Amino acid sequence: MTTNEAMEKEMRQLIAGNWKMNGLAEEAAAIVGPLRSGANGLACDLLVCPPFTQIAPIAKILTGSAVAVGGQDCHTDEKGAHTGDISAAMLRDAGASWVILGHSERRQDHHESDALVHAKTKAAVAAGLTPIVCVGETEAQRAAGAQNDVVGGQLAGSLPAGFAGVVAYEPIWAIGTGKTATEADVAAMHLFIRETLVKLLGQTGGGIRILYGGSVRPANAGSLLAVPHVGGALVGGASLKSEEFLGIARAARV
Ligand code: PGA
Repeated sequence: MTTNEAMEKEMRQLIAGNWKMNGLAEEAAAIVGPLRSGANGLACDLLVCPPFTQIAPIAKILTGSAVAVGGQDCHTDEKGAHTGDISAAMLRDAGASWVILGHSERRQDHHESDALVHAKTKAAVAAGLTPIVCVGETEAQRAAGAQNDVVGGQLAGSLPAGFAGVVAYEPIWAIGTGKTATEADVAAMHLFIRETLVKLLGQTGGGIRILYGGSVRPANAGSLLAVPHVGGALVGGASLKSEEFLGIARAARV
């Protein structure tokens, strides 16, 4: 067994819920309530990333449980004149220990570049948060056979030196569409990402969890999570229903 294979075997998979812009107080509490006990005895790590407004109350509900809390974005600066923005230190202060960065919806809606994601990732690490950096190609880019160039470029541009967080591969055409990448496509891309991480980061790159995201459901989670180099899942829609989210978590590789 190579060092990389040994590192991979020891990794606990991470199932992360990206709530996006969903979750008023009552609904948010109802989603996480069942996760407290549901997380006991799982073979994977569990994380929920609610909207900013729900981080503090949810962190309180989940205190002492096995479920971690994260944000969905942060600013590059620690504080200052940036109306409407939230810093990594603020996320941490509210009870988050993780943050999703460079999600394709932010890259699209807010024109986030690799350079900006790189700066945000550095800020997150400096504040003590674990970043989940998202990458992924559009349908047109895949049709043109450019997926490796696109994802390779995003990794090289977004990950700072010494990166030791998590990477999420989310093909944009699979997000919220009910379409998932085939196991063969996931296997090829996750292997490519693993090789790229080792090239960029050396040995650390072999131990980084690479999540798959895009229409993950309990019904397809088992087969996706069994693919080599898949270190977990980033779950959107299905993370808003505790039973579905726990169903995905129960499908994690032991
Ligand atoms: P989805 O979203 O599971 O609803 O496809 C995934 C994501 O965007 O993180």
